[in-house]
Amino acid sequence: MTRAAQRSRILILDFGSQYTQLIARRIREQRVYCEIHPPTLTAREARALGAAGLVLSGGPASVLDAGAPQADAALFELGVPVLGVCYGLQLMAHQLGGQVERAARHEYGRAQFEAVGAHPLFAGVGGSAKLSVWMSHGDRVLRLPKDFEAIGHSTGAKTATNEGAAEFAAIAHRERPLLGLQFHPEVAHSEGGAQILRNFAREICGCEGDWTVEAFVAEAVEKVREQVGEGRAVCGLSGGVDSSVAAALVHRAMGERLHCIFVDNGLLRAGERAEVQRAFGEHLGIPLHTVDAAERFLQALRGVVDPEQKRRIIGHLFIEIFEEQAQQIGGAGGADFLVQGTLYPDVIESIPVRGPSATIKTHHNVGGLPERMRLALVEPLRELFKDEVRAAGRLLGVPEAIVSRHPFPGPGLAVRVLGEVTAERLEMLRGADAILIEELRRAGLYAEIWQAFAVLLPVGSVGVMGDARSYESCVALRCVQSVDAMTADWSRLPADLLELVSSRITNEVPGVNRVVYDITSKPPATIEWE
Ligand code: XMP
Repeated sequence: MTRAAQRSRILILDFGSQYTQLIARRIREQRVYCEIHPPTLTAREARALGAAGLVLSGGPASVLDAGAPQADAALFELGVPVLGVCYGLQLMAHQLGGQVERAARHEYGRAQFEAVGAHPLFAGVGGSAKLSVWMSHGDRVLRLPKDFEAIGHSTGAKTATNEGAAEFAAIAHRERPLLGLQFHPEVAHSEGGAQILRNFAREICGCEGDWTVEAFVAEAVEKVREQVGEGRAVCGLSGGVDSSVAAALVHRAMGERLHCIFVDNGLLRAGERAEVQRAFGEHLGIPLHTVDAAERFLQALRGVVDPEQKRRIIGHLFIEIFEEQAQQIGGAGGADFLVQGTLYPDVIESIPVRGPSATIKTHHNVGGLPERMRLALVEPLRELFKDEVRAAGRLLGVPEAIVSRHPFPGPGLAVRVLGEVTAERLEMLRGADAILIEELRRAGLYAEIWQAFAVLLPVGSVGVMGDARSYESCVALRCVQSVDAMTADWSRLPADLLELVSSRITNEVPGVNRVVYDITSKPPATIEWE
């Protein structure tokens, strides 16, 4: 058994809260490894996984609804600590014989929380002071199950949407380690939330706090070696963080038996190809096989305006080219493994927690390749969140320019040139995008933004330049804050900065006479325009 399999871990049962991933991140920040599982996880499975503690997340359902998701009742008998958060608290109360009622009004937003007694869950959390915490629930507990007691109350401002007080804002079993919080300790708005989760994970569950990036990398290298044996692997690099870090890690494990293929599809940002080549060739000493395929992609995209069709064409062509190259490189017998930079959020998304969700965009990856080429997947980053991948990348010596780079879609600039993708329009977009990024870096704001990019719109508009009428293209700037790309808000950039970027673009990028700033959140919009 590897060390990873023995490490103490907390399992989070996801009842569909938008904050479930945040719970996981907050627990990992306490250096405790944790995983998100579907709500159907059984006690037997939890035991087999070596759970040191369980968290029941919040969720949109009401425990009073027929068919509301339940937890396996045996989980409460496992003997490991269980923390219910919001819906999790109500579920615990409901399943263990308490009474939950539908509140007349929702309690949503800030409330004042006060711990009662000296429960270890609240050790080191603001003494007897009231904490400002974040509530977001409809139902509330009317009567506690047998042997439970309140360990905290809350009072909220009485408003039209707030009933005012919750007698059972925090609950605990008198003898067994069963705990519940009505508020969300995982959100940044909840004071003391990180300490509460630390108390739960480190003190109550007794986890050691040995989940560090250093330990992760050492174990991951060991695991890759175990998996690949004497085999050979190929990796498709995109220039993004995930594939670069995956490649660097696998290279550490198997050296030159890893072959990295970089397909320049002509849809990259300004200077990106040179940057990737420098990073791998010079910096990391990992040989990179670059394929110049820009012409093939442009040909295939000629006349195509539908975003999904663009994605399909790019995906198929990428697979075709990658396969050609991999067969050449692999030599006799070819490669046995395909390295992919799959991250934990992708893994969680594929867990059918919330039922089948509608496809909004078909995200391009190298799906399809493993079956076609009979390759087994090596996915060393499957357990990591993006910020953890960045930390691992730094540790592995991946240059900062790549590690801290904003996410970039697989189909590249093709989904940011709205309408037909041509060499001229790509060049226009590259120019505008480079100016935006340069100015954000100069202003010291690049790292604070989740994603920033320019989009070339398929509209012309009238302008006046040097006393003459112009009829030229319009560029939209998109800068968003996000934690996981599932939801996003537009970045409140300083007006002076926007003005500078706009002025530089219209002056320096031929063919653009208008710049607009996108002020839509996700939802209802998505981050990309296509
Ligand atoms: P949306 O536009 O759906 O994007 O809000 C969410 C995140 O995913 C990225 N994105 C993609 N990534 N292939 C990718 O690898 C794609 O086709 C694709 N489309 C969007 C987007 O940049 C954002 O980070």
